[in-house]
Parts: sequence; C-alpha cells; structure tokens
Amino acid sequence: VIDPEGEATMWMDITNHSAPQIEEMRALAYKSWTANKDGVLKFRQQLEEYKASVMNTILTQNNPKPGQQVRYSLNRDALANITSEIFDFLPEESPFSKVRFPKCSVVGGSGILVNSKCGEGIDGADFIFRCNLPDLKGFEMDVGRKSNLTTINTVSIIAKRYNFMQTMSDSKKFIRKLQGFQGYLWMPLFGLKSGLSYSMRVARLLHKSGDIPNRKLIISNPEHFVAVQDFWRTKFLSTRISTGLYVVTLALSLCDETNLYGFWPFSRDLNLRPLKYHYYDDLDGPLSVHSFTEEFNTMLKMHKDGLLRMHLDQCT
Ligand code: CTP
Repeated sequence: VIDPEGEATMWMDITNHSAPQIEEMRALAYKSWTANKDGVLKFRQQLEEYKASVMNTILTQNNPKPGQQVRYSLNRDALANITSEIFDFLPEESPFSKVRFPKCSVVGGSGILVNSKCGEGIDGADFIFRCNLPDLKGFEMDVGRKSNLTTINTVSIIAKRYNFMQTMSDSKKFIRKLQGFQGYLWMPLFGLKSGLSYSMRVARLLHKSGDIPNRKLIISNPEHFVAVQDFWRTKFLSTRISTGLYVVTLALSLCDETNLYGFWPFSRDLNLRPLKYHYYDDLDGPLSVHSFTEEFNTMLKMHKDGLLRMHLDQCT
C-alpha cells in the first residue's frame, strides 16, 4: 500500500505533558460539562463556508451522474469514472440530508476504554458512530454493542486486516465480522487510487443486501473529505486528519450533543497507568500519518468550549 504522505510515529507518552497540563485534564475529566448550543450552530456555519456541510458527505444518484468523473481525496491529480456499477451502489438521496439526533456517541479505538464500563453510556445515545470496524464482541461492558454508522477504511482495514479481500476466506472472515454491526457502513471508495480495486470487492459484497441485512453501504464523497480537511487546516491542523476527527466533524453536523469515547492517543491514562493503543488488539506503537496530539488538543479545547463532550476516564 503506497501512502502518498508517508508515515511518522505518533504514539504519544502523556508524561511529555507538564504536570499542570495533566492536572488540568484530570480536572476536566471529573468537572461537570455544559453544552454550548450556539457554539455548535456557529461551528456548523463555519463548516458550510468550507463546503464541508453534512449535505455533501456522501455520493448519491444526484451527484455524480453515471459517466462523470470524481477526484480521489488523497490523490488529487487522479480521476475515477463513475461506472454504472458504482452508480448502482449510490442511494437516491443522502440519508443525512434531513435527520438530526439529540445525542450521539462517537467511539474511537483507544485502550483507555478497557475496563471503562462506558458501554451503557455509549449505547444510550440516539446515534452511535464507530471507527474502522472495531471489535465489539467481548467488550460490550466497555464499548457497548450498538452501531448506526461504522467506517471501513480502505488501507487500515481492507488491506491490512483482510488481505486486500483476495480470497473467499478473506471475504467470509469480513462478512462474519460485519454480523456485529448495524446501520450504515461508510466507505471511502475514492480515497487512494491504489485502493480502488480492492475497495470495489468490498463494495460489491456490501451491496449484495442478502448477505448483510440491516446494513447499508454508503460511499463517502471525496470532495467532502477534502473540504473537512481544508476546514481543519485553518485551525492549524497541518497533517491529514484521522478517521476519528472526520467522524467527530460529521457528528457535530448531525447531533445536538456529541459525546466522545476512546479518544486518547497516549500510552498512559490520567493516573499514568500503561495503556494499550487499541482496546481490542495488541497493536503497539503504530505508525501514523496523523497528528493525534494536535487533534486531541483541538478536541479538548472544543470540550472546554462546550461544543462536544470528551469522556477521558472510566464511566463509573
Ligand atoms: N484514537 C485515539 N487514541 C487511540 C486510538 C485511536 O484517539 N489510542 C482515535 C483516532 O482519532 C482514530 C480513531 O480513534 O482515528 C480510530 O482509531 P484507529 O482505528 O486506530 O484509526 P487510525 O487507523 O489511526 O485512523 P485512520 O483510519 O484515519 O488511519
């Protein structure tokens, strides 16, 4: 898999933070939180100014038309054709154009969720976003069991975990994994040009509704991803945004109250106990193109401003 932006390690040690910074995070974790509704509306207006509004988030049969071309979000020089097969994958209109949810959970993959007992809080929301097809089975107490939108990232999921979906056994393993998820399965079909061929194998599988009842394929609009990326660049986030921050941005467009769980890119918790990187596997010190500390600090500021609520410790 060739990633045009290269890789740099980003697994951070929280002890790089000063003692007052850690103390401030502890205080925020336990202090009561107040929602800032006007702030959320203002944030949405800013997104609209960058053409990053939720109206454009996925491809539909209104945009693009068959035969038209779209630009890949991560290879801006390359164009992909919207074939009639791809057009058939698209819904007539976006399921997000008219809905809003009072309360949402967005679940990141951090090891901070282990023994967190956050499952009930996560599942108590009206709409639940999950990133990158994580494990739920066996972790229900900590992460819940419900899902309404789950991202399936081409590189980190299909290439790395499912061997580019080359064999029947890769497909079977993938379909077994999908059994634990409901709702929308969000795919960046036009992210990396090199990912299109194997992403298409997944899209075909997901489109065959007989195999996966109650789950719907949605294909992200590459121009929306770029617009969200441009928006965050104005907030001094210079590197490519993570799936997590992209989904948080989407949630802020759709939800009156956005609750974040499992967003903690540090190797220790607030009490300096060591943590796994992911709650569900043993990936250690991953390589990443994202700047998780910058993203975390941005989200923490949004927590302080009442735009979203971060859950930074156990839920009990
Ligand atoms: N995350 C976090 N702290 C961790 C692990 C993950 O804050 N220790 C957040 C990040 O925002 C991340 C999201 O949870 O994007 C989902 O985690 P993961 O599946 O590991 O995402 P990445 O592979 O890093 O993201 P991408 O798909 O964008 O490459």
